[in-house]
Amino acid sequence: MSDPQRPRASLRTAVVWDVLKDALDRRGKTAGNGAAGALDVLDTGGGTGNFAVPVARLGHRVTVVDPSPNALFALERRAAEAGVAERVRGVQGDVHGLFDVVERGGYDAVLCHGVLEYVEDPAAGLRNVVDALRPAGTLSLLAAGLGGAVLARALAGHFTEARQALTDPAGRWGEGDPVPHRFTAETLSELIGEAGLEVGAIHGVRVFADLVPGVLVDTEPGAMEALLRLEAAVAELPAFHSVATQLHVLAERG
Ligand SMILES: C[S@@+](CC[C@H](N)C(=O)[O-])C[C@H]1O[C@@H](n2cnc3c(N)ncnc32)[C@H](O)[C@@H]1O
Repeated sequence: MSDPQRPRASLRTAVVWDVLKDALDRRGKTAGNGAAGALDVLDTGGGTGNFAVPVARLGHRVTVVDPSPNALFALERRAAEAGVAERVRGVQGDVHGLFDVVERGGYDAVLCHGVLEYVEDPAAGLRNVVDALRPAGTLSLLAAGLGGAVLARALAGHFTEARQALTDPAGRWGEGDPVPHRFTAETLSELIGEAGLEVGAIHGVRVFADLVPGVLVDTEPGAMEALLRLEAAVAELPAFHSVATQLHVLAERG
């Protein structure tokens, strides 16, 4: 799993991290709940803490809910190594039973990164994620994009699978597809609207990163930096949302 501080991993996390950090900074200035803008952040399906630990490093209090005991164990160790153990709490749980383990309406920001595509019922899962927010809270949602998968299957020569993903209601390319659901900017916006939030910004994530041969990025001097800058430049352009591997959406109550 990645760490926004490491260059190779930052190809997966840089765009999301920059958008999230700005949103938390803005929220911290207006939340007015004590200690220098410190927020209560919930990371649903937060895993080993790719985002939770850097968010805690910003001074926020983070609760991670994840069904995997192994991930929570790794999270605890990682938080301790980063010196933020007192601000990171790991809880075993599931988005479908979220309020068995955390407080409804108790969080200034809720992250749901790389999770919605795996949950049984994405609409119900997202409603719970949204219901964990305080009235003026911010949602950071990252989910698998349909177009990126179609492009990747086609470029690998799997043309029938690429077409199958296009027509399958869940955006799956076949029986062997490990991802149960994929989304477009439109379907994610619709789910967010149904859950009671207004979409603020949409970013396309990993538009090129997964398609470029690693050797081009790892051996050419300056190539990694240039690719990161290119990813940042296209992330906001709607034309590229439809081919991104993941879509990131920031949303708030209207
Ligand atoms: C791809 S990882 C993403 C981890 C982290 N959010 C990140 O961005 O690095 C997916 C995570 O979702 C968790 N997960 C899977 N199903 C879940 C569910 N129904 N509710 C909550 N978390 C779930 C997994 O245990 C795993 O840690």
